[in-house]
Amino acid sequence: MKRVLIVLFAALSIMSCTKNKPETAAESPAGKAWQEIAPDEIDINAVKMIDKDWMVVSAGKEGDMNLMTISWGSLGELWNRPVMTVYVSTNRYTHEFMEKNDCFTVTHFPESMRQKLAYLGRVSGRDEDKVAGAGLTVEFTELGNPIYAEADLAIECRKIYAQQFDRDRLPEDVRQWYENSNLDIHYFYVGEIVHVWKK
Ligand SMILES: Cc1cc2nc3c(=O)[nH]c(=O)nc-3n(C[C@H](O)[C@H](O)[C@H](O)COP(=O)(O)O)c2cc1C
Repeated sequence: MKRVLIVLFAALSIMSCTKNKPETAAESPAGKAWQEIAPDEIDINAVKMIDKDWMVVSAGKEGDMNLMTISWGSLGELWNRPVMTVYVSTNRYTHEFMEKNDCFTVTHFPESMRQKLAYLGRVSGRDEDKVAGAGLTVEFTELGNPIYAEADLAIECRKIYAQQFDRDRLPEDVRQWYENSNLDIHYFYVGEIVHVWKK
């Protein structure tokens, strides 16, 4: 009897410790679980990861979220905090979610997901359910922010600063570029990195 109670207690402890934690909830198709790492343990070159591989920025909560592909972003340090900054035009549906939520996540995917990332960067969440369209498995962190089982790195950020770039201070060629592209000037969102998970 005593032995049964010990086994039961151990099982309940494991279940209560792991409930809702990405470490166990987030099995990738390859069967790997999330592992939390420190921001300075991100071992992919930041320029390659953002500009070349592309990433996905997501904001919102379960039932009210959006996501899009990004290739502009910065990873580093500000005001003695580890930060990730993303640049989101007001034309994007995601912009609304960046504005109304305190947090956002940035996820990196294996190369095999590139076509899905191209889709997430072509289609708007105003028109389609992009999570379903890309066949992603969304999971929510303990803070309630979306990450994806198919990702191999997830960076969870708390917004600490957001502002639209000042048109008058843009380099001339960039100002021209905005005028020619009919795109609204980007907002930058500086996020303090509060969690990083990798597979
Ligand atoms: C490779 C790639 C990189 C992109 N990078 C950015 C970016 O850094 N910032 C941005 O505002 N839009 C970027 N976009 C455009 C958005 O991802 C795209 O407009 C998307 O459809 C917006 O979706 P939404 O309306 O659901 O927010 C990128 C698109 C692609 C394909």
